[in-house]
Amino acid sequence: MTDTANDALDPADMREQYRTTELSAADLAPEPIAQFTRWFKETAENPAIHEPNAMIVSTATADGRPSSRTVLLKHYDRAGFVFFTNYDSRKGTELAANPYASLLFPWHPLARQIIVTGRAERVGRDETVAYFRTRPHGSQLGAWASRQSSVIASRAELLARYEELAARYPEGTQVPVPPEWGGVRVVPDAVEFWQGHENRLHDRLRYVREDGQDGEGDVTWRVERLAP
Ligand SMILES: Cc1cc2nc3c(=O)[nH]c(=O)nc-3n(C[C@H](O)[C@H](O)[C@H](O)COP(=O)(O)O)c2cc1C
Repeated sequence: MTDTANDALDPADMREQYRTTELSAADLAPEPIAQFTRWFKETAENPAIHEPNAMIVSTATADGRPSSRTVLLKHYDRAGFVFFTNYDSRKGTELAANPYASLLFPWHPLARQIIVTGRAERVGRDETVAYFRTRPHGSQLGAWASRQSSVIASRAELLARYEELAARYPEGTQVPVPPEWGGVRVVPDAVEFWQGHENRLHDRLRYVREDGQDGEGDVTWRVERLAP
């Protein structure tokens, strides 16, 4: 039916064999944040991976309709994985109604993938302010200029709003943090480490939080192997 059907690349013909070393439960760190740190370091050292901190964040409406987008990881520790966004955006409103998220790190050149699932909560205002202050002046203005995820008439409208803000807050002046902008922390209840292998016999090792409690403290993790 389409005029491109004959010359188009057929994704069904695209096949990669992954030649990597095996991942066993014995090789894993005792908890997922330490394991994430190992893989994140290896990923960051690999020049084939642009923006190793880019992750796909999936959210869903209260009635379960999902949506996904790329966001940058800005902080992580045992308390969880943090990104910054507009709380009034689509993802922000979905999280307000249904506070669970999935974070997926697609590290294809290493034949690796990490999937974090858990409860999402807003970070403290002090944490948001501290991060906002580290952003370049232009990005600070951009956070004000864009009512993220709302429909706008044109790019010109966006640029006009930016120019207006740039005049109000010239370089060197302090830009206040927009009230609707801030951090989201995903507190993991499960973290899966996926390592690709030949013949689709991939390794999938998943840490599952045992206590069901949020936050730091004496958390224990069970590791289970999943069929690829
Ligand atoms: C590489 C990359 C990094 C991005 N980082 C962020 C980010 O850190 N925060 C953010 O709000 N949007 C970020 N975006 C834009 C989002 O993908 C998305 O367009 C925006 O957050 C609106 O999403 P929503 O309408 O689903 O809420 C990034 C996009 C790309 C491609």
